[in-house]
Amino acid sequence: MAKSSTAAQHQSDVYQPDKSIVENAHVKDYDTLYKRSVADREGFWADEASNLEWYKKWDRVLDDDNKPFYKWFTGGKINIIHNAIDRHLQTQRRNKLALIWEGEPGDVRTFSYHALNREVSKFANVLKSMGVRKGEIVTIYMPQIPELAIAMLACAKIGAAHSVVYGGFSVEALAERIQDAQSRVLVTADGGWRRGKITDLKGIANEAMGRSATIEVCITVQRTGQEVYMENDRDFWYHDLMGLPIASAKCTTEEMDAEDMLFILYTSGTTGRPKGVLHTHGGYSVYTSTTHKYVFDIKDEDRWWCAADPGWITGHSYIVYGPLINGATIMMYEGAPNHPYPNRWWQMIEKYGITILYTSPTAIRGLMRFGDQWPKRHDLSTLRLLGSVGEPINPEAWRWYHEVIGEGRCPIMDTWWQTETGGFMITPLPITPLKPGSATKPFFGNEVAVVDDDGKEVAAGEEGKLVLKAPWPGMARTIFGDSDRYVEVYWKDYEKQGWYKAGDSARIDEDGYVWIIGRIDDVIKVSGYRLGTAEVESALVSHPDVSEAATIALPHEVKGNAIYAYVILRAGVSGSPDLEETLRKHVGHEIGPIARPESVTFVETLPKTRSGKIMRRVLKARAQGVDEGDLSTLEE
Ligand code: WT7
Repeated sequence: MAKSSTAAQHQSDVYQPDKSIVENAHVKDYDTLYKRSVADREGFWADEASNLEWYKKWDRVLDDDNKPFYKWFTGGKINIIHNAIDRHLQTQRRNKLALIWEGEPGDVRTFSYHALNREVSKFANVLKSMGVRKGEIVTIYMPQIPELAIAMLACAKIGAAHSVVYGGFSVEALAERIQDAQSRVLVTADGGWRRGKITDLKGIANEAMGRSATIEVCITVQRTGQEVYMENDRDFWYHDLMGLPIASAKCTTEEMDAEDMLFILYTSGTTGRPKGVLHTHGGYSVYTSTTHKYVFDIKDEDRWWCAADPGWITGHSYIVYGPLINGATIMMYEGAPNHPYPNRWWQMIEKYGITILYTSPTAIRGLMRFGDQWPKRHDLSTLRLLGSVGEPINPEAWRWYHEVIGEGRCPIMDTWWQTETGGFMITPLPITPLKPGSATKPFFGNEVAVVDDDGKEVAAGEEGKLVLKAPWPGMARTIFGDSDRYVEVYWKDYEKQGWYKAGDSARIDEDGYVWIIGRIDDVIKVSGYRLGTAEVESALVSHPDVSEAATIALPHEVKGNAIYAYVILRAGVSGSPDLEETLRKHVGHEIGPIARPESVTFVETLPKTRSGKIMRRVLKARAQGVDEGDLSTLEE
């Protein structure tokens, strides 16, 4: 996937925006505003923050007294819900559609801002009646149904934090996240629809609750109607609770400090334990809404579709919070893009008149494989902008997306960012001349560089480590319960300079365009999903037949990367195709189907350093049949 491009290639392949796009864009001159935003960073962000409503204005824009624990808008009082919902009710937006949702079987539900507010307020009262307090973390484990967003918004409204666990995760992944957050309340569903089948969410939740003892109350949304086990005194049906008098549609939004916790979201790192990345009400509100508005040029008449799952940061920032703050109409779809046929997405774009589509390279490559005839059957003329996120987009997929889906008319916003950054960091604007495969330039206020281990900037076109040189309002504040790890992972390598290490390698070309190459740590992006090699390995060794395991990523045509596992079995156990399948399924059961290795190879030994570290680089080189490089640290 790592595309190495020469200067000549860069020059020859630039897509200029249409005049009409430039004329209508919120930002017409990137350079001037960018210069201002870095020369007076606090002034720039203060201006943007003023577009939101605050219960009390901040005293300081940026508080950097205790680096790297930056704070933003300290002294300010706000609640993200006031801006995402409450204030729209006072305007004509009250009757505008906030959410259009389509289930995989074809059922449709829509919510105006008025209706959304009623649902959120009702569920907020339900949570309160269950004793949920400000500062407490509620775990949400749901399919892509409106109640997922409603539950998130209800938590935020009453000042509780949410921890959304992606519905594709399984037992161990859920149990360990519940445990780490010490959640007392779990919101889930009986299941969801995926490729014509129903998922067993409640079954998985029940098993996870058995492994982590903290849950006292579990609220279950009925989505599929399948039979599920409900435990007396612990389990409640969502619809039962929402029908009680306690679920009144009136609920006051809690006034929060700008720096109060809004949510934690677990993401994979280099060790087995996932990190609870923490975001706050104030800075996150400002950052998600500003980036969404400028990068996707949001207008009141837009119909915005971010085809991610709300269970990931993309969904938090750009399905739920950013777009609602901007008063947009959001599209959300429950199921698979190719169900029942590969035109499902294109059909929905036509049906709902979607104007902006934001998705991942994996989805684009997957749909591209079915051929042009599927999108060509549909009227996609409402589309005006496209977006990509999650992994580098190869130029071939970029061009297909641009020509076949965007009909040559829609610029592609290739947005680089992370769970930790809260919002877009390196991204084009609609007016930016585009080079397929490049996320182009830093968003306002941000300064990025590609450096070597000493922090020296590498020459134009050279590969190095991507760093972020200045703080931004949407940045993670810490890792929940582990501030040492926060410092260690992101800030220690460039402590002297005070830079944030992204964990990606990249190049910056002679025009200042950033080209992301990929992760440099033991994080693997599979279909744009982030997984740690250590997580998959620990799932493998949790199987009684496995003694040791190592996993690596190898390039995959659709998924970008795929996981390959190498396993040493316990004495007396011998490898077989059946055992390989058992182990793949075991990983699926513990973490989730996305983590299932492509293959499991049984080996006698693993290449290790003398200090016992597995040399994944050597495994990778062997698998690809290339030179194994420097083996001087290899044991034996
Ligand atoms: C990692 C962060 C940000 C929402 C989804 C992913 C990779 C992300 C791009 C892009 C190349 C990208 C990076 C990054 N990545 N966007 N446009 N081009 N790579 O969030 O799960 O926290 O993963 O995704 O490797 O570090 P995440």
